[in-house]
Amino acid sequence: MTSISRRQFLMGSASLAALANLKACAIHSAAERTGLASAYGDDFLVGTAISNDTLANDNQHLKTLIARDFNAITAENCMKSALVQPRQGQWDWGLADRFVNFGTQHDMHIVGHALVWHSQVPDDFFVHTDGSPIDRDELIQRMETHIRTLMGRYKGKIQTWDVVNEAIDEDKGWRKSAWFNTMGNADYVEHAFRLAHELDPSAHLIYNDYNMHNPGKRAFLVDVLKDYKRRGVPIHGVGLQSHVGLDYPDLQEFEASIEAYAAQGMRIHCTELEVDVLPVAWEFTGAEISTDFEYSDQLNPYADALPTDIQERLTERYVQLFRLFLKHRDKIDRVTFWGTHDGESWKNDFPVRGRTNYPLLFDRELQPKPAYFALMALKR
Ligand code: XIL
Repeated sequence: MTSISRRQFLMGSASLAALANLKACAIHSAAERTGLASAYGDDFLVGTAISNDTLANDNQHLKTLIARDFNAITAENCMKSALVQPRQGQWDWGLADRFVNFGTQHDMHIVGHALVWHSQVPDDFFVHTDGSPIDRDELIQRMETHIRTLMGRYKGKIQTWDVVNEAIDEDKGWRKSAWFNTMGNADYVEHAFRLAHELDPSAHLIYNDYNMHNPGKRAFLVDVLKDYKRRGVPIHGVGLQSHVGLDYPDLQEFEASIEAYAAQGMRIHCTELEVDVLPVAWEFTGAEISTDFEYSDQLNPYADALPTDIQERLTERYVQLFRLFLKHRDKIDRVTFWGTHDGESWKNDFPVRGRTNYPLLFDRELQPKPAYFALMALKR
């Protein structure tokens, strides 16, 4: 960590009095936490995403496992705009509150995901009640209300925000999303960062995206970061979603991106890590969630069980990734998995629905896989 200690970072903006109070709980939860997060305690935070299912059904078994192995959590879905504000002015806090309470109770670093994104947006966000498109001023107004209300509710409890998600297209500069098209340019991005910083100056603010190893995307973002630095746009970190596979991406490109963003003063977060073991459908390796390829049995070869040789490749891939993360531990604040066990991974349904994937560290029975033990062994 740079100017603040890892401990302070974990606690975010907690006051000294609150800190003293929390100390007893912290000792308690540190003793309970004997898994991955404590193994990597001197390196970076180790996080997981919490699903709506876990929150809604109060899955205690899974929650106990999460509290043991992880010290950071991200909201997989419950804070996305379509879920937390399903209609303009109508807020649904149920699952988001449970998510934040869980993290607070277990003394975890809490990540809010995501304030501004083109996906999972409510149907009425970019239009008036009569269906006509809103203009730029109305867009800014709605964005401000959304960010102000969401950040305001959890101020002092959520330490890191994915402020803007996926605003850059592969090799094509800014994504021509409804945000961009309504605004007429990409100013909404810096506007969101400035507002988030104003609302909570102690929050750590991230730009998050997929395929961040892509040299074209990297070059574009580096230019944006230089420009933001020059003009004082408050951005603190870059999130590499890290939806990777057994053979992609080339880890040298991944490393080049870690170095390039860090060279611009950014803290690095691997925000949505998992390793897809299934055949790549039509050479697609992106994470744009609207993608949906047709199912075929050929694309779902391990429906019954994962063969030993693929399990070994999965383990080896995780070891290579964590060796890279450890090499850059001075730049990396957090490595978060996109889910805890294979049964809940979005990769069972993306980019092809109805497959059986094995991308995480725990299997469908919540048992740690060989990859888990290999990552623990790396730290012994
Ligand atoms: C995914 C969730 O995991 C799914 O449950 C949901 O149906 C679609 O979104 N990039 C992101 C995440 O930033 O929010 C996405 O999460 C995966 C891609």
